[in-house]
Amino acid sequence: NMQQLPPCVIDCGTGYTKIGYAGNTEPQFIMPSCIAIRESAGVGDTAQRRLARGVDDLDFYIGDEAEDKPNYATKWPIRHGMVEDWDLMEKFLEQVIFKYLRAEPEDHSFLMVREVQKSLLRTEPPLNTPENREYLAEIMFETFNTPGLYIAVQAVLALAASWTSRQVGQRTLTGIVIDSGDGVTHAIPVAEGYVIGSCIKNVPIAGRDITFFIQQLLREREAGIPPEQSMETAKAVKERYCYICPDIVKEFSKYDSDPGKWIKQYRGVNAVSQTAFHVDVGYERFLGPEIFFHPEFANPDFMQPISDVVDDVIQSCPIDVRRPLYKNIVLSGGSTMFRDFGRRLQRDVKRVVDARLKLSEELSGGRIKPKPMEVQVITHHMQRYAVWFGGSMLASTPEFSQVCHSKKDYDEIGPSICRHNPVFGIMS
Ligand SMILES: Nc1ncnc2c1ncn2[C@@H]1O[C@H](COP(=O)(O)OP(=O)(O)OP(=O)(O)O)[C@@H](O)[C@H]1O
Ligand SMILES: [Mg+2]
Repeated sequence: NMQQLPPCVIDCGTGYTKIGYAGNTEPQFIMPSCIAIRESAGVGDTAQRRLARGVDDLDFYIGDEAEDKPNYATKWPIRHGMVEDWDLMEKFLEQVIFKYLRAEPEDHSFLMVREVQKSLLRTEPPLNTPENREYLAEIMFETFNTPGLYIAVQAVLALAASWTSRQVGQRTLTGIVIDSGDGVTHAIPVAEGYVIGSCIKNVPIAGRDITFFIQQLLREREAGIPPEQSMETAKAVKERYCYICPDIVKEFSKYDSDPGKWIKQYRGVNAVSQTAFHVDVGYERFLGPEIFFHPEFANPDFMQPISDVVDDVIQSCPIDVRRPLYKNIVLSGGSTMFRDFGRRLQRDVKRVVDARLKLSEELSGGRIKPKPMEVQVITHHMQRYAVWFGGSMLASTPEFSQVCHSKKDYDEIGPSICRHNPVFGIMS
């Protein structure tokens, strides 16, 4: 009975895909968004491949199983949050559903996530090219025959996830989401469940850049790391030991005066020789994620600290939503997990805002006394999978079945119905 089976929730990110069932607090699987196909399978030759659907077509792997498969080519169907190869995406979803979730897609509705930026920044969708959402609808309804589909906006789900934070008094779908994953960081303002698309900004600093930066710092100093493992070592060091400090000058002197207290040891095993190696982890603990606030350390072409970006985005929004946005700055994504990220962001945004208010007071010769601005960054335990978790929460409410597009509507009207997905979640 389809009414009783929980909806499936799927968030395909550039780096990682999170999948599971609605109502759970954690995704069942988090896997790299990659797929390994036989070299001979001839990607791109779609027509032929469709004709040859058979045994060969089942010969592929996804996620962790797809990494470093000899005789297979490993592909990443999503780039910068956009699906680039829909044939691969379809195969990828096939295993997500049947092999990992072990679900019969005919028996479950699906909540799936789309990234928002490009489709909204584009003013006019080019004629004849169906949008991402329509391709997805076609795959879900026609290939998998699913009874219901809702395509959610990631930022809205991230806002819903933040309701679990103790800092949040009232459930609201107005806020600015700072989503930082592996490939890109977005600042996405949302008012009453609607993304203010023209005000979104992307920052070219995210998890991968921090990993690269740490890799460079370690390479210059630590000789013991096997070169072919330097990336995974840097990533592990980042995830385990990095944090955000209030002031790097003071942080350097803390390390210099008491190195034993601050320097950590990372232990790894050389994959080829099976011998142990170890790495001293020092300044990179705080320098790595510092590039959010000093991007020029890692990227000479980008200078704006993330706090300035957040302030810019809010200032570009309509005046009546600015106050609620400053009050509800919500974190989402794996790269917001660094300890004290929220605290530093809040302090630095507050500084920018206070400086502006002070300036306007001075310029008016003291005649204007601006009302202080409350700046609050919301942190919570679900940040790592905030988007997935928000989807899991919303898809388990009774409202979900009402906002879901049904197979019947799809058959009658076509994929265009999936362009619009009603906002829900705050009524209940
Ligand atoms: N505890 C942690 N501390 C810091 N970074 C972490 C931690 N856990 C995971 N990460 C980083 O988070 C990133 C993955 O985040 P996430 O799953 O949100 O990205 P994604 O959704 O796949 O990518 P995108 O949002 O760019 O499309 C990786 O760079 C990973 O190294
Ligand atoms: Mg993501």
